[in-house]
Amino acid sequence: MSPARRTRTETTPPITPVAAFLPSERSLPALREAAARCEACDLFRPATQTVFGEGPENASVMLVGEQPGDREDREGRPFVGPAGRLLDEALALAEVPRPRVYVTNAVKHFKFEERGKRRLHQRPTTKEIRVCSGWLFAEIEALKPQMIVCLGATAAQTFMGPSFRLTQHRGEVITTPWAPFWMATYHPSAILRMIEENVRAAAREALISDLRQILNHVPLDALEAASRPDVVEAAPRPDV
Ligand code: URA
Repeated sequence: MSPARRTRTETTPPITPVAAFLPSERSLPALREAAARCEACDLFRPATQTVFGEGPENASVMLVGEQPGDREDREGRPFVGPAGRLLDEALALAEVPRPRVYVTNAVKHFKFEERGKRRLHQRPTTKEIRVCSGWLFAEIEALKPQMIVCLGATAAQTFMGPSFRLTQHRGEVITTPWAPFWMATYHPSAILRMIEENVRAAAREALISDLRQILNHVPLDALEAASRPDVVEAAPRPDV
């Protein structure tokens, strides 16, 4: 092998499947600990840490976003930045208690491009989503949620494939192999990016009304039966 070829091989290791990092015990705490060491794709290199899902281990509802953002990468928790604030608001207006739902992402590392001091979100590739889905499906197996709600097209396509169109199927509740009830709705970040105020307001209303559907399928007492983890008792977040 030529020296040039050897150098390239050393600097670009092959994609390692998530299976190699999955623990033998498949509880959520064991998965979280194992995911912290995941090197199944290159996204772990520039990221600060793995951002695993969080919420009660007996939650009946799982929300799935795309990937952590800048704030989530620094704090190591999903949906704690601006999109998380909109999600909190929408859940509160939908009367779904956020501390009783499990929140995670399709991809567990922040993918970004550096522009000066800013780290700008980059959409994960189909391959990165597919590799990382090993963690998501392990989380689902451990949690066994009654209802999965995907926030945005990336999360929805992780389940339904790339031909899934949010514009056509937003808010439709269907039965799937992963949960008796499954639905996709807007991603809060997509709403925050909408420029026209009336369009943004309509999308926010649609998100709230989609989230309200959770209570048609998972009764509030089942939601409230989920234990309240300490981690969601965090102090109010400072504004960004
Ligand atoms: N956007 C996501 O999809 N997930 C997060 O955790 C934060 C922002």
